[in-house]
Amino acid sequence: MSKTYKIAVFAGDGIGPEVTREALKVLDITAEMAGFKVDCKHFPHGSEHYLETGELLPDEVLEEVRGMDAVYLGAIGDPRVEVGLVERAVIAGLRFNLDLFVNLRPIRLMADKFCPLKGKTSKDVDFVVVRENTEDAYAGIGGILKKGTPNEVAMQQMVYTRHGVERVVRYAYETARKRDRQKKLLLVDKANAIRAQDIWTRTFAEVGEEFPDIEQDHAYVDAACMWMIKNPESFDTVVTTNLFGDIITDLGAVLQGGMGVAASGNINPGQVSLFEPIHGSAPKYKGQNVSCPIAAIAAVYMMLHELGEISSASKIEHAIEKVLNREDVNSVSASSGVSTDEWGDRVIEALRQL
Ligand code: IPM
Ligand code: MN
Repeated sequence: MSKTYKIAVFAGDGIGPEVTREALKVLDITAEMAGFKVDCKHFPHGSEHYLETGELLPDEVLEEVRGMDAVYLGAIGDPRVEVGLVERAVIAGLRFNLDLFVNLRPIRLMADKFCPLKGKTSKDVDFVVVRENTEDAYAGIGGILKKGTPNEVAMQQMVYTRHGVERVVRYAYETARKRDRQKKLLLVDKANAIRAQDIWTRTFAEVGEEFPDIEQDHAYVDAACMWMIKNPESFDTVVTTNLFGDIITDLGAVLQGGMGVAASGNINPGQVSLFEPIHGSAPKYKGQNVSCPIAAIAAVYMMLHELGEISSASKIEHAIEKVLNREDVNSVSASSGVSTDEWGDRVIEALRQL
């Protein structure tokens, strides 16, 4: 009997459903080629569902998802709803409730022509960011007092626990070891200004003793942004806080060609994990069939990799690489001239030719 993977799908808002459609199309063909099965259950949760029903992410859904093999998410966000409400409930809700403490964001340039940096090629942009995913300013400790008055007070706490920092730092050292490239782990923080981040400095050094084969490096986040542009080839594996990881991976997405190609895995090793493109819901392109689904398709290969379907994962990765290197492909933006479904078809065509 072939293996069946149960996947919870939250296609979400804006361009989410159309890029998810293409991602699942590629997943289906890959499964057929490799001889495993996928059983996708679609969940409607997102802004539309919230506007219709007032429901965000109920506990029963979380319970059901916990019993599945993986979660796939398209995009969440809709300008008709209060800023961040549904994103926090669904994306952050899944990250926190499933304790997906790693946000793995590979930054790999797959086609030289998409590099915005003068003189850099695919050889120079190939690193991975391990973003902490359950703490920091995202922990939800904070609020606003005396709102709208001259005495208004607004605050949001950056929360770091030894347990939370240690587990993600250890995962990052293991990642650097597995990559087996520069065998170097870079800690990105702002411990000079944010003294609470001293917990990162100390934990990084202490856990590092278990990894004598991995070189320890450090950069403050402002300098790290500069180095990412100046010398991306010096990066191998990066570990950082939730907020800084969010910010530097948008910068990283541009180095690899744009938001149209950047994918991520929200991971709790060995447990149900969630995979999604890094981009948002791009409401203005909703339903127009112009958005590039490559990032969404790349999230599928990250998912298959985590599920242990390593050879299928690398086939999709190679197919994407082939498609991006086609001479008639000049852009991965909404104005690329390649429609959303055509992108999916091209990846499938490349898969079949591998
Ligand atoms: C991301 C997004 C989210 C984040 C938002 C939508 C809450 O920007 O996944 O990078 O900040 O984590
Ligand atoms: Mn982000």
